[in-house]
Amino acid sequence: MRHLLEIDDLTVDELHRVLDLATDLSPPRVLEGQGMALVFEKPSARTRNSMEMAVFQLGGHPMYIQAAEIGMDVRESVEDVTRTLASYHGCIGARVFAHATVERMAGEGLVPIVNMLSDEAHPLQALADVLTLQQEFGDLAGRTVAYVGDGNNMFRSLALAAGMLGAEVRFTGPPGYRLPEADRDRLAAAGVVVAEFDRATDAVAGVDVVYTDVWTSMGQEDEAAQRHRDFEGFRVDEALMEAAGPKAVFLHCLPAHRGEEVTDGVVDGPASRVWPQVANRMHAARGLLAWLLGEAADGGSGA
Ligand code: CP
Ligand code: NVA
Repeated sequence: MRHLLEIDDLTVDELHRVLDLATDLSPPRVLEGQGMALVFEKPSARTRNSMEMAVFQLGGHPMYIQAAEIGMDVRESVEDVTRTLASYHGCIGARVFAHATVERMAGEGLVPIVNMLSDEAHPLQALADVLTLQQEFGDLAGRTVAYVGDGNNMFRSLALAAGMLGAEVRFTGPPGYRLPEADRDRLAAAGVVVAEFDRATDAVAGVDVVYTDVWTSMGQEDEAAQRHRDFEGFRVDEALMEAAGPKAVFLHCLPAHRGEEVTDGVVDGPASRVWPQVANRMHAARGLLAWLLGEAADGGSGA
């Protein structure tokens, strides 16, 4: 039984295979006659819509479920919810606060579990990100990706995906918001070494990609004022893109807090690839599900 809780649940070959399947516009209808439960503890625009459409394109029936409605660990345990949903659905996706929740679901071993964002990881977004970069550059080997801001769920998954495909990954953010040692070890185990920079201008100089995410993630709203102060100096604005150089493209997982971590001029500017990135969420999700419920379920990588 395979799951996608984080990018390093895939081997490098499997990651390539998922991305190949993402560009297959006539994918195998691996969900024909089946449902996929999509459980959300947090809001979503892109993830819900891209997953629903991907499930539909694979012949399945997506079912959107607000976590409050089923009361995970309130009305009944996460394990009992998982057993119940697995009785009706061929796959379960969950967007959660605690990463342990998707691990507990996967621990039941009943149907493949897809992490649709946890406090620690956002692998579906990272798949769309590297798909977007492949379309821009071809092979990612030797390309440079600089992430500016919070060392959060988005950064972990992006660093794994881009690094596993051979990109050089750079990080810059204020002290206190950098990757803990345990995360560095996990990245290193996947062959990914992150170069850390104190100053955003140094991190982005000469890179191919500048990436940022919100300073305040879902669930951290109480810290917003403090974070706003701490992250000053790590905004991606026109001057920072100029410091990156003329070839750099800009990515952001969205939603953007315009005027905070990024300016309008960058999101809407010529270097921005955020709308292809958004569109690729559906293609990446379809590729992942085609692999997870097809080749991976059949026991072969297909690579
Ligand atoms: N990027 C992303 O996951 O967007 P949503 O929160 O809208 O799903
Ligand atoms: N880091 C953000 C990503 C949103 C897609 C969050 O967790 O809210």
